[in-house]
Amino acid sequence: MKLLSRLVALTLCLVTTFVEARTFEEIKKDGKIIVATEGGFPPFNFFRGPTLTGFEVELAEALAKKMGVQIEWRSLAFDALLAGLRQDRWDMVIASFGVTPVRAKAVSFSNPHYCSGGVIVTKNPAIRKAEDLADKVVAVQTGTTYLENVQKLAKVKDVKNFPKDTDARTALVSGRVDAWVTDKFVAKAALESAPSAGLTIGDFVFIEHIAPAVKKGNTSLVEALNKALQETMADGTYEALSKKYFNEDIRCR
Ligand code: ARG
Repeated sequence: MKLLSRLVALTLCLVTTFVEARTFEEIKKDGKIIVATEGGFPPFNFFRGPTLTGFEVELAEALAKKMGVQIEWRSLAFDALLAGLRQDRWDMVIASFGVTPVRAKAVSFSNPHYCSGGVIVTKNPAIRKAEDLADKVVAVQTGTTYLENVQKLAKVKDVKNFPKDTDARTALVSGRVDAWVTDKFVAKAALESAPSAGLTIGDFVFIEHIAPAVKKGNTSLVEALNKALQETMADGTYEALSKKYFNEDIRCR
């Protein structure tokens, strides 16, 4: 029994070591691309009832159409998404990942699909700037650039981590923390969907380029994505989708 389980473990290990990421040509021949996202970051990727939707979900569908493939969606915890690329569990991730030097060592990013940044959200209008977070308790989603950047602020009293960004928001709404740091457009949508919660948006803590990711070194897929992205940005598809979700065009400029 022990020997058998060892053999299974060894085989799995060999399989994951030698399986290569699928090139764009292979994906195209197969006719479908496996794309993973979280499904918990409205309005970028979220569930409306049983249906996965959002700006990134619709944009990925538009990109896939240009690339001539169908998407098979996977939805997983945010902090599992990039690891799954390394293990070839899916071909691409689109989940508002900011391009950072650390991430760029582990995966390959295409060109950015939008530009944004982390903002301070509070119920106290006196807390607006990064300095105002001194001696405050701040909620952020685990594994995000919000966590990373809030941790850099010297005088913050405590940073509370939540596996889901929506739980970090709830912590603020229910008064368990002083501030929530999240994406500017996520914050705007949260204010619109719950006007009575008394939330206000303060300054940016940092800004970032957000891009789809593929397995490290999968250049054929990066090139195909860049071409499709460029086409959607040139033919009005991107602008229409962006205006639908944000009333403005959020591409990097
Ligand atoms: N932009 C942030 C980052 O790069 C947060 C992304 C959160 N995405 C999500 N689907 N919850 O870490």
